[in-house]
Formats: sequence, structure tokens, C-alpha cells
Amino acid sequence: MKAVVVRRFGLDHAALEDVPRPELCPYGVRIRVHAAGVSFANLLVIEGKHQNRWEPPFTPGTEVAGVVLESGAGADRFRAGDRVVAGVRKGGFGEEVVVTQNNVFALPDTVDFDAAVHFPTIYATAYCALKWRARLQPGEILLVHGAAGGSGLAAIEIGKLLGALVIASASSEQKLAAAADHGADLCINYRNGGFREQVLAATGGRGADVIFDPVGGSTFDESLRCIAPDGRIIPMGFAGGTVPSVPANLVLVKNITVIGIYWGYYMGWARQLPPPGMEAQVREAFDEMLGWAAGGWLRPHTQQAHPLADFREALAAISNQSVIGRCVLNP
Ligand SMILES: NC(=O)c1ccc[n+]([C@@H]2O[C@H](COP(=O)([O-])OP(=O)(O)OC[C@H]3O[C@@H](n4cnc5c(N)ncnc54)[C@H](OP(=O)(O)O)[C@@H]3O)[C@@H](O)[C@H]2O)c1
Repeated sequence: MKAVVVRRFGLDHAALEDVPRPELCPYGVRIRVHAAGVSFANLLVIEGKHQNRWEPPFTPGTEVAGVVLESGAGADRFRAGDRVVAGVRKGGFGEEVVVTQNNVFALPDTVDFDAAVHFPTIYATAYCALKWRARLQPGEILLVHGAAGGSGLAAIEIGKLLGALVIASASSEQKLAAAADHGADLCINYRNGGFREQVLAATGGRGADVIFDPVGGSTFDESLRCIAPDGRIIPMGFAGGTVPSVPANLVLVKNITVIGIYWGYYMGWARQLPPPGMEAQVREAFDEMLGWAAGGWLRPHTQQAHPLADFREALAAISNQSVIGRCVLNP
């Protein structure tokens, strides 16, 4: 089969190759991949800069959707022909992938494969961050940075479904138009002098109750200057390239909470396994999110779908900050 293989760290050392099909394992499900999501995290993994660091050679790709070809011993939840979506640790940029069944989810007929790949990471992370970790309440003010990126758009939509008033911040008018189209109530172009003043003006000087930050660096620092008392800030990614430091004195005087979220923990990818019962809770979350998608309440935005051979182009679009939503590969 064809797959993208990284021979040494760096995009220049990745190429489309003929490789053996992955072996079917106990509790594994073999999926014919119809769509794979292309993410900022993929770039970090290819460069050897992600917490999930694989020694080359490896095939990147963590979000896939497609059709089940066969199931291994003990994998009784899926049969050949089922349409599914799955989160994988690696291997998504190939024609086939094998995934343990706990990370495979049934796909409603009305959700197409390109839309489905938005769920294993970006909708799931936004859902978990806002619903489970920050416990976002109806009527609260949610500030979303990187608002037209993959996780940003997902956070806007989930925030609206949870009843929040959503403020979006992004780097261009085109991105803000996308954020508004996905439900943002107020949009701020941070390139015009930052976002703090406008957030304070819009909230009567109080600030945002919950801040979803996939950017980090100075965005995180400025966020601490427009967060409401008792507010929660979620530094969920560092797309800007700088990991911020948390000033504990501000956390104290402002009565705020800094919330960590690593979605991979709930998928069983962290050093410590999630608690018993988590697998069922994750499956319920996917049922709810995919139900929302089937009902038209979530609208994943695929900027562009590329053939697998054009993986470089899709990844380059991420590093030059030009992607709205997600790019997708169709092996
Ligand atoms: N914690 C978790 O479990 C988890 C899960 C998923 C993703 N993540 C992390 O979250 C971050 C965002 O992921 P994503 O999939 O939403 O990424 P994305 O679609 O590429 O969006 C990232 C956004 O960050 C902004 N940005 C600012 N500086 C940037 C730069 N130098 N290069 C690229 N983008 C920049 C861009 O918005 P503007 O142009 O508007 O600034 C962009 O839309 C990544 O660091 C990823 O690894 C973490």
C-alpha cells in the first residue's frame, strides 16, 4: 500500500512510498482510509518536536475516517463494511491503518469522511476542554484564540452549543468571517493592536470567564489581562511557537484557574492510563458530537482536500498560517 514515510525528522525527509500493510492485532480494526486530517500537531511530530516522538522511519497522521476491512481477535464492535472514524497515534497518512477498537467510533451515514476527520482530535479536544475540564456554563463569556484554526472553530461551535457568548480572535478579516459564520458573537482582529481592550470593552470591564488558547506565548500573557475573576484559562496548544510561563501571583490575585488538557490521555496515549469507565465516557462524547454533526449543529470546515501525494502542500499551508478549519488528505 501507499503511505507517507518520514525517514529522518523534517518535512524534507518525508516521501510517499510503497510499504507493507500494517499487521492486524488483537482488538485491532483494519480501516481503509478515505480521509486523514492534516494538523499542526502532525508538523510537530514530523519535525520530532511533539510530546509523541517516534523514531524514524514512521508514518504520521492521527485522524482518519473510512471503512472497516476486517477486525482482529476480540474486536467485536465493528464489522467489514462499517463506516467509522478513529484516532490513531500514527499511521494515518496511508491507505490502511490498524487501530484498537476503543479508539474507533461509528459514523452516522450523513457525516461524510472529510467532515468526520475533524472529530478524533479537534472537536474532541474542544468538547473535553470546555465541557469536562472548564465546565463552561450557559451565559458565560468564552474567548477563543486561533479562532479560525481547526480547534478554534470547533471551540466556537461547542461553546455556542453549551450556551456561551463567544468572542473570537484571529489574524485576518477572512478568518474572522469564518469565525462569525461558525457562531462567534464578537470578532476581534488581534493584528489591530491586540485583543485586551476590546474584550474588556465588550464585557463591561470584567473580562472573559473562560479562555481557550491554542496559540500560547504573548497571546496567553495578554489573556491574563482580560480574564474575569474566577475565570478559567486553557492553554491547550502553542501554535505560535512559544510555551508561556504562568505567573502564580496573577493566578492568586485574580482568583483564576489554569486548566491543562491533553486529549491523548483520554484516548489512552499518555504515560498513565485513564481511569476505569473513561472509555465509555469517551464513546458517549463521540455519540453526542457526531449526533450534533448529523443534526447540522456542528459544521466541520474543510478548507481543501488533497490526494495523499500532495501531503507537503497541505502541511505547508498550516505553517504559513493560511488554513481555515482543516485540510484533509484522501488516500
Ligand atoms: N491539548 C491537546 O490535547 C491538543 C489537541 C489538539 C491540538 N493541540 C494543539 O493545539 C494547537 C492548535 O492546533 P490546531 O489543530 O487548531 O491548529 P491550526 O488549525 O493550525 O490553528 C492554529 C491557529 O494558531 C494561530 N497561529 C498563531 N501563530 C501561528 C504560527 N506561527 N503558525 C501557525 N499558526 C499560528 C493561527 O491563527 P491566527 O492566524 O488567527 O493567529 C492558526 O489558525 C497546536 O499547537 C496543537 O498541537 C493540542
